[in-house]
Amino acid sequence: MNKTLREARAFAAGLSSALQEHPELLHGVQPFIIPPHTALAAVAEELAKPSGADVPGRGSAVRLGAQNAHWEDDGAWTGEISVPQVADAGAELVEIGHSERREHFGETIETTRLKVASTLRHGLVPLLCIGEPAQVQERGETAAYILDQARGALRGLPADQLSRVLIAYEPIWAIGAQGRPATPAELREPFEVLSREYAGQVQALLYGGSVSPENALEMLLIPGVQGLFVGRAAWTLQGYLQILRIAAATGKPEVSGLQ
Ligand code: PGA
Repeated sequence: MNKTLREARAFAAGLSSALQEHPELLHGVQPFIIPPHTALAAVAEELAKPSGADVPGRGSAVRLGAQNAHWEDDGAWTGEISVPQVADAGAELVEIGHSERREHFGETIETTRLKVASTLRHGLVPLLCIGEPAQVQERGETAAYILDQARGALRGLPADQLSRVLIAYEPIWAIGAQGRPATPAELREPFEVLSREYAGQVQALLYGGSVSPENALEMLLIPGVQGLFVGRAAWTLQGYLQILRIAAATGKPEVSGLQ
């Protein structure tokens, strides 16, 4: 719940021109931004303006996402917004199951499954967020917990659909201003189990939670981490570009994002 229309437009316009000026920031990197629903259409419009950073045949090099969408296409769901509606506003990705949605808005493994299905049905990319609370980590049960979330949401998907999914592992205890940045040692096992199950099956495995310019490189170097999901540190264009620069320099085919 950040950024007004004006702020979101300014960010998108600034990002397009920075990428035009510094195409090396796109080296091996697929950037995405996930603004609030109110700003989707305006940001799409900014990104659609022709720029030297465009990818031939596809337009902007930056992918646009929605932070949530309902699983039904339309109907009596006052206050909700569907996948066809976010697609109509320009979204290409749909973020599903962020821990704040699970904690405050009753998102369950079953609703994440329905949303993944709807997103794929409409040709968009699901960005499934998974992650355990602190108590689960303290009990040493992270692997089982996050596999349960991922398997539940992705159950029954044929290989060609699974291959379009992005998974962001975000331990709840590491997210936001109240969060504690994870150490690389704490991320090793979760990425080991996620890689065993999903590497090569999904589009990419991302890490999120207190990512910053200070720790982005060490996060990207953890085996199994293929990209980043960045909140606060990328709210400013300068912060976003700093992290993009780090990702581009690693030479991995990374994905980085801003919510
Ligand atoms: P953060 O947020 O990078 O500010 O911790 C991550 C998120 O929104 O999930």
